[in-house]
Amino acid sequence: MFFRGFCLFFVLMALSLSFELPNLNSETLTCNPDDLRALTGFSNCLESTIPEWNWNSTDSPGCCAWTGVTCDNSTGFDRRVVGLELGSKRLVGKICGSLADLNQLRVLNFSHNFLGGSLPDDLFNLQNIEIIDISNNAFVGSINNKGMCTISTKIRVLNFSNNYFSGEVPKDLANCTSLQHLSFDENMLSGSLPESLFQLKNLSELNLQGNNISGSLSNGIGNLSNLVKLDISFNLFSGVLPDIFTRLARLEQFSARSNLFTGHLPTSLVNSPSLQMLNLNRNSLSGPINLNCSAMKNLVSLGLGSNLFHGPIPNSLSSCRGLKTLNLGRNNLSGELPNNFKNLKSLTQLSLSNTSLSNILSTLRILQHCRNLSMLVLTRNFHDEQIPNDVSLEFKNLNSLILANCQLSGPIPEWLSRCHKLQFLDLSWNHLGGNIPSWFGKFESLFYLDLSNNSLKGEIPKSLTELRSLISGKVTIEEPVPGFELYTAGQGGPSLSYRQISSFRPTIDLSYNILQGPIWPGFGNLKRLHVLNLKENKFSGPIPNNLSGMAGLEKLDLSHNKLSGEIPHSLINLSFLSNFNVSYNQLCGKIPQGGQFDTFPNTSFEGNNGLCYAQCTCQSEQIPILSLRKKKRTIIGLPFKIGAATGFVLTVICCFISGWALPKPHKRKYIRFVTS
Ligand SMILES: *[C@@H]1O[C@H](CO)[C@@H](O)[C@H](O)[C@H]1NC(C)=O
Ligand SMILES: *[C@@H]1O[C@H](CO)[C@@H](O)[C@H](O)[C@H]1NC(C)=O
Ligand SMILES: *[C@@H]1O[C@H](CO)[C@@H](O)[C@H](O)[C@H]1NC(C)=O
Ligand SMILES: *[C@@H]1O[C@H](CO)[C@@H](O)[C@H](O)[C@H]1NC(C)=O
Ligand SMILES: *[C@@H]1O[C@H](CO)[C@@H](O)[C@H](O)[C@H]1NC(C)=O
Ligand SMILES: *[C@@H]1O[C@H](CO)[C@@H](O)[C@H](O)[C@H]1NC(C)=O
Ligand SMILES: *[C@@H]1O[C@H](CO)[C@@H](O)[C@H](O)[C@H]1NC(C)=O
Ligand SMILES: *[C@@H]1O[C@H](CO)[C@@H](O)[C@H](O)[C@H]1NC(C)=O
Ligand SMILES: *[C@@H]1O[C@H](CO)[C@@H](O)[C@H](O)[C@H]1NC(C)=O
Ligand SMILES: *[C@@H]1O[C@H](CO)[C@@H](O)[C@H](O)[C@H]1NC(C)=O
Ligand SMILES: *[C@@H]1O[C@H](CO)[C@@H](O)[C@H](O)[C@H]1NC(C)=O
Ligand SMILES: *[C@@H]1O[C@H](CO)[C@@H](O)[C@H](O)[C@H]1NC(C)=O
Repeated sequence: MFFRGFCLFFVLMALSLSFELPNLNSETLTCNPDDLRALTGFSNCLESTIPEWNWNSTDSPGCCAWTGVTCDNSTGFDRRVVGLELGSKRLVGKICGSLADLNQLRVLNFSHNFLGGSLPDDLFNLQNIEIIDISNNAFVGSINNKGMCTISTKIRVLNFSNNYFSGEVPKDLANCTSLQHLSFDENMLSGSLPESLFQLKNLSELNLQGNNISGSLSNGIGNLSNLVKLDISFNLFSGVLPDIFTRLARLEQFSARSNLFTGHLPTSLVNSPSLQMLNLNRNSLSGPINLNCSAMKNLVSLGLGSNLFHGPIPNSLSSCRGLKTLNLGRNNLSGELPNNFKNLKSLTQLSLSNTSLSNILSTLRILQHCRNLSMLVLTRNFHDEQIPNDVSLEFKNLNSLILANCQLSGPIPEWLSRCHKLQFLDLSWNHLGGNIPSWFGKFESLFYLDLSNNSLKGEIPKSLTELRSLISGKVTIEEPVPGFELYTAGQGGPSLSYRQISSFRPTIDLSYNILQGPIWPGFGNLKRLHVLNLKENKFSGPIPNNLSGMAGLEKLDLSHNKLSGEIPHSLINLSFLSNFNVSYNQLCGKIPQGGQFDTFPNTSFEGNNGLCYAQCTCQSEQIPILSLRKKKRTIIGLPFKIGAATGFVLTVICCFISGWALPKPHKRKYIRFVTS
């Protein structure tokens, strides 16, 4: 019985094999010999191999089964290659050989590889090509200029973004009448836009951002009546914006951020019913902000920051009910926030920094009605006002509050404690007094705290060493939409500008206050902290051994305090520490050696008369703390004062410089990093 079953099994096996073999053969998907030759030629040219491409071995599947190759439905040698999609295959080298022989090819996708050299001339000899995506490679030279669409008349998508193409935008585009998506962004193109571009009536997406394209934006752009997305940001466009937006009736996104545009907002632009996103940050546009919200029914995101707009913050903006993101920062506005801004119920991100805004109490009372508000930037306004302590203020969804450099006085207000979602708090460069409240420790998501340059007193609340997100690092960060910018106050150094909250390093900055008492050993729990700055306070006692627990620490500045005792040897275990400063304290004993400590300059340790590199002992350990303080104070009195004075002078100089410093220019590499 068993034996018979076994036999049957064998017979079935053999049968199934004999049925499968021919099948396998028919799956040896060979392709047209010309196509095979073209593919082989292409592959031979590369410095890398393409996984699973193998034309030598007889038992390998035919080229139609190769990675990334798609053939049409014909049989045998009639099978033609119609798709070559090799994105993210770590291809290295140049394209040579004659790809043009793939004359049935419709899709060519080499994106996200390491291909270089100039574009092969015959790329545009492909009669049937519809999609070419060679984005995110290292191609150089000019973009083929010899009649791009003379032969390749069916091109719908051209994506050349993120390469090193230079020269001008090709002039021979006029015959690319099928073109719908054109992306030349993040290259090094210069010159002005060719008029032929404006004949591409079917274009729906045009990406030219991140080049050096100059000249004015011609009225011709109004011919592109199918445009849905137009991005010309980060270029050198100048002149006025053309008044053609009535003709761009499908335009949903327009970004011209970081150019040199001047003049007023064109009437057709501020009356566009289709626009959802308008980003004109960082130009030199002037005049009033006169959006017609009755017309702009779809507007969700508006960026007019860093321009020369003037006048009061317009009342009428509050009628753009769908607004989620609004950036009016760094303009010459003035007055108070209009009361009817409380109608902007969808508002989530708002920047009004440096707009000469006054009356912080009224501003906050209005904005608390915008229940979805999560990011609020009010830096450089309200000069010399009192920070409101109105207990009824409530911002349930606020995760970022940037209220720096306003010269606000008063204690840190109680209502902040109810902003449970706070992740990012910058109250630096004010005149805030009193203690740091202990409820700070309850912010479960807080990972960036800057209270520097205030007049805060007393001890650091111990609860600050219990900040959950700095212990476990588990924070889900809600990022602003593109075009919304965050700046640090930057008066004591360079002003940082980031487009992402997560680009900020986890930080506790309490520098330049009058805080005192010990540095709690519990700080050692903050494994995820990257920056701890306690400079220029009156902290005393030893540097706790446990600080070596802050495994992620990159910067530790304890300078200009009254710390005593030795520098704990355990700190050499902080392997990311690149910026360490304990100068101008009352430290003694041997400076630890090894680890990152071998890289710190002498200036990190100066102003401590008991520190040495060789052998020395710390006598202070035997001396009671009180007498030590008296004694040391007289010893280091003079250098300390000189240090403080120098610090003050430097600070004043830095303030002056940063106050006039221009915004950081567009950082190409940074953008690549962020978008990839
Ligand atoms: C195919 O064979 C040639 C010559 O024998 C050899 O140079 C080449 O490296 C082989 N290619 C592959 C992919 O094995
Ligand atoms: C091949 O035929 C199938 C079924 O008819 C169809 O879905 C597919 O799109 C065809 N493929 C090509 C490349 O023409
Ligand atoms: C090309 O391939 C990449 C994946 O590597 C994909 O993200 C991209 O959408 C493709 N391009 C086109 C035009 O389909
Ligand atoms: C555009 O196409 C026409 C007709 O096919 C042809 O005569 C002309 O040379 C082409 N121009 C360019 C720039 O390719
Ligand atoms: C290139 O652009 C096209 C059209 O915008 C898009 O579909 C494609 O995904 C882009 N390629 C990559 C790699 O992003
Ligand atoms: C332009 O787009 C329309 C609609 O998508 C299409 O019917 C037409 O054929 C396209 N024109 C060209 C020249 O490709
Ligand atoms: C633009 O031109 C400037 C000056 O020639 C150059 O430094 C910069 O790298 C260029 N930027 C791009 C994106 O090509
Ligand atoms: C815009 O379109 C009109 C009419 O189709 C045409 O006469 C004009 O030459 C076009 N302008 C440009 C700059 O292409
Ligand atoms: C604002 O838009 C509405 C609706 O489109 C329109 O009736 C009105 O004339 C516009 N107002 C101005 C000043 O353009
Ligand atoms: C700002 O606007 C005021 C009037 O509202 C004007 O006097 C002043 O010159 C403007 N400042 C700048 C820098 O444009
Ligand atoms: C507020 O945010 C919530 C959650 O994202 C969303 O469901 C709601 O529609 C928003 N409210 C308004 C008025 O936009
Ligand atoms: C703030 O605005 C004033 C006046 O508009 C300007 O002079 C100053 O440079 C601005 N500061 C920053 C950091 O943008």
